[in-house]
Amino acid sequence: MQRVLARLASRGLLVTRSGSGTYTAPRRAAAAAADVSWQTLALGSRAGLGADLERLIEPADPDALPLASGFLDESLQPLGLLAAAASRAARRPQGWSRLPPQGLPELRAQFAAETGGSVTGQNVLITPGGQAALSAAFRHLCVPGDPVVVESPTYVGALAAARAAGLMLVPVPGDRDGVLPDVLADALARTGARLVYLQPRYSNPAGAVLAPDRRGPVLDAVARQGAFLIEDDWMRDFDLGPPSPPPLASADDDGHVIYLRSLSKPVAAGLRVAGLVARGPVLARLRRGRISDDLFVAPVLQQIALDVLTAPGWPRHLGGLRRELRERRDALVAAIAELLPGCSLEVIPAGGVHLWLRLPEACPDSDVADLVAVRGLAVGPGRMSFPGEPPGNYLRLSYASAAAPALVRAAEILAEVLDAW
Ligand SMILES: Cc1ncc(COP(=O)(O)O)c(C=O)c1O
Repeated sequence: MQRVLARLASRGLLVTRSGSGTYTAPRRAAAAAADVSWQTLALGSRAGLGADLERLIEPADPDALPLASGFLDESLQPLGLLAAAASRAARRPQGWSRLPPQGLPELRAQFAAETGGSVTGQNVLITPGGQAALSAAFRHLCVPGDPVVVESPTYVGALAAARAAGLMLVPVPGDRDGVLPDVLADALARTGARLVYLQPRYSNPAGAVLAPDRRGPVLDAVARQGAFLIEDDWMRDFDLGPPSPPPLASADDDGHVIYLRSLSKPVAAGLRVAGLVARGPVLARLRRGRISDDLFVAPVLQQIALDVLTAPGWPRHLGGLRRELRERRDALVAAIAELLPGCSLEVIPAGGVHLWLRLPEACPDSDVADLVAVRGLAVGPGRMSFPGEPPGNYLRLSYASAAAPALVRAAEILAEVLDAW
């Protein structure tokens, strides 16, 4: 009751008078609606700025089961490490001054060491998160109309950034072992594309890991074409079993791979810090492009990121995080097997934060997502992840933000909706 009253008060519908009680707020005379119709002509039309990413990034209804978000819930954030690092960083004058625009040297060295191979801190550019890095790469390495090859399905935000940059999406299918190298090579040769975007580790949304015998052929196809490959290693820290292979970037000495590693998944969604690794003239292009976008990333955030990654408690935090996520994944897989016999999981990923559920042929994903939303369950309809027409009905079910009992309840709600189809 108290929560409902507080919510109504925050919306200005109730007022509380101390010592007297709570009353309905007096109605204000409706202000005349502003006339913004002139903007229709001023703005014109603009292709490419769809609402998919906006919908996905919107914080979930606090009362809904949150299986749509890929960000970890607050209980999984390393809050102690963050608070200690933030308090140290806030007291240093350097936290508030200017840094070299490429980023804090020690943080760049840390990202370089994590990338492996012959990468050094000189090759790293700090960006305010992975999305900013993708958007910068698409805008500064291509011009509108250029083709960009992407695995299909892929990350909704990468599709949004490529569309906003006016690029032509060239989808290439994959399977449980990642993108198909021969088809990738054909697509590059056919379109003349100079840019490829892939997530070789626990891809979003299909959950595939690029198989060891495909790594060489993928790198060869990109090199033969004289192209760049953006390797988005968004799930770098999320092996839930044995370690997955190292970044492709660690096997590339000639500057074809542009490697991206963001901290917003393993640390916290609000820590807007990522490392973008590149070699050769492309690094200067990206650096200058990023400076033209927004100068540099807040030094205080970079210092916090460095402190967290180098804290003795960081490996311990990751260990606990992986244990919890393993438990959540296993609970969701078991609930799906028991309650959703008409659905299937093409991959049970050995890591990551989500499952990619294939729905029965007759059940359109967006209708299912709408119907479960009414019952308090938020899921991601699969069609947003396909650059073209989807080949089937899928849902992305994330276990990043919901604990095991909520995941089982989510499977029950899905079963209720699908059984009634
Ligand atoms: C595959 C992938 N890449 C990049 C991002 C961007 O993340 P951020 O900008 O928070 O680093 C996301 C966010 O969900 C993602 O799923």
